[in-house]
Amino acid sequence: MVTLRVAIVGSGPAGIYTAEALVKQSHDPVEVDVLERLPTPYGLVRYGVAPDHTSIKSIAGYLRRVLETPGVRFLGGVELGADLSVDDLLSCYDAVVYCTGAMVDRHLGVPGEDLPGSVAATDFVNWYCGHPDVPPDAFSLDAEEVVVIGVGNVAVDVVRIMAKTADELRGTDVPEEVLDRLAASKVKRVHMVGRRGPEHAKFTLKELRELGELLNADVLTFPDEVAVADMTTLSRQVRGNVDVLRSWSERKTADRPRRLEVRFWLRPVEILGVSRVEGVRLERTRLENGRVVGTGDFETIPADMVMRSVGYQSVALPGVPFDPGSMTVPNVAGKAADRQYVAGWLKRGPTGVIGTNKSDAAETVRTLLAEAVPGTATARLDDLLAARGLSPVTYEDWLAIEAAEASLAGSLSRGERVKLVGRDAMLGACGRLARPGGPS
Ligand SMILES: Cc1cc2nc3c(=O)[nH]c(=O)nc-3n(C[C@H](O)[C@H](O)[C@H](O)COP(=O)(O)OP(=O)(O)OC[C@H]3O[C@@H](n4cnc5c(N)ncnc54)[C@H](O)[C@@H]3O)c2cc1C
Ligand SMILES: NC(=O)c1ccc[n+]([C@@H]2O[C@H](COP(=O)([O-])OP(=O)(O)OC[C@H]3O[C@@H](n4cnc5c(N)ncnc54)[C@H](OP(=O)(O)O)[C@@H]3O)[C@@H](O)[C@H]2O)c1
Repeated sequence: MVTLRVAIVGSGPAGIYTAEALVKQSHDPVEVDVLERLPTPYGLVRYGVAPDHTSIKSIAGYLRRVLETPGVRFLGGVELGADLSVDDLLSCYDAVVYCTGAMVDRHLGVPGEDLPGSVAATDFVNWYCGHPDVPPDAFSLDAEEVVVIGVGNVAVDVVRIMAKTADELRGTDVPEEVLDRLAASKVKRVHMVGRRGPEHAKFTLKELRELGELLNADVLTFPDEVAVADMTTLSRQVRGNVDVLRSWSERKTADRPRRLEVRFWLRPVEILGVSRVEGVRLERTRLENGRVVGTGDFETIPADMVMRSVGYQSVALPGVPFDPGSMTVPNVAGKAADRQYVAGWLKRGPTGVIGTNKSDAAETVRTLLAEAVPGTATARLDDLLAARGLSPVTYEDWLAIEAAEASLAGSLSRGERVKLVGRDAMLGACGRLARPGGPS
């Protein structure tokens, strides 16, 4: 029987669940190559999930077993678009599955958004997670007053990381240079602002409750902003959120070093400042026929830093169909084009937890297996990469990077691992040097 050869582009949850669904099925013999632009696997599990959420991060143990399954190969440091084209992949594989996630921030579209001091949560998350695209000196928390726009789980993550002490984060994998900068943080007040009401916030109850348990920060809300006329129509989860937010409006503050205010019914209209951020002008809102509209009442919150946490978005891959409206790859049950498929955030947009990608990947794999023809492609990726002087990071190399991170944690007397920062450090740890001008 001829083996079906599939390339998966991206090694986040969607890519690895796709690999798992392909090799677990029993009809066709399958070989899967998982290509990844970074030297490391696991996508947002490594560079998104908050460092203090260690139990969620442990999903990497499950993903690891997939990469260790016979028939699955990890090839790091290989970027579609920079190192390989779609045509290259189609010449080497019977089918290609794009799982490149959503790497960039959505924009607010208000004046002042680009002022120094106005930053994307995407970059801040990448920074504290030690992503090689963001150097450790990218942020210093000199700001005393911070406004975070958005009330989703990412906003909750960034607020929690800013509110905690560096000591509380010592046992995590936060890079040492980042930890030093967090220890020197001057942040005193954080305002997290939602443009609709508490019943519309996107954060989940477990994550919200954690803010109320912060040791280093008083958390409060304003009674008028968390009042909800009719609680009976709300789901249990949303009712839970509203109950927690209401209870914070009655809380006595305890003079903790930091203060977090969770605000609602305020939309940003301008980020103020001359040469850098000085505040945010917000307009009070209400709902009209389900739409957020301004009331004409304005409020300014002074701020030294504004963090925009209004969602992620995917980027188009050269040669791959892309809908600029939804910022996803148009597809029917995962099929994007002849022999080309898509899964994960690139397929359905940047929503959903890690597990959501499993059923999503399963749908794509069902579509793929129903029509893929083994033996369609005859070229070999290894030959093509060798001809271009490219030598991918192997799974064994990745294990060496992991071992170096564990050993760094030991030498610093910190947790199980401390992230190495930058490609050179990672490639050095596995006995390779970064290629000059190599993949980003
Ligand atoms: C900050 C943050 C925190 C989160 N925390 C949680 C949480 O605690 N719990 C939870 O359940 N969910 C969480 N999520 C959601 C979860 O991370 C996503 O559902 C999931 O990661 C999406 O998987 P994906 O594989 O589609 O994308 P990703 O995880 O982003 O993986 C995409 C991969 O593709 C690679 N790639 C991109 N472009 C290329 C290219 N051109 N060539 C090769 N490779 C490429 C990327 O480097 C990356 O490794 C969080 C999300 C964010 C943003
Ligand atoms: N612990 C976890 O499980 C965890 C952690 C992190 C992330 N995640 C998941 O990852 C996904 C992405 O999270 P996310 O927080 O980036 O996105 P999100 O859940 O979509 O939240 C985005 C927030 O930004 C607001 N927003 C959007 N545009 C705005 C604008 N122009 N002005 C003001 N506010 C605006 C949204 O308000 P509106 O609702 O009014 O649009 C919403 O409050 C989610 O599915 C999330 O659950 C999970």
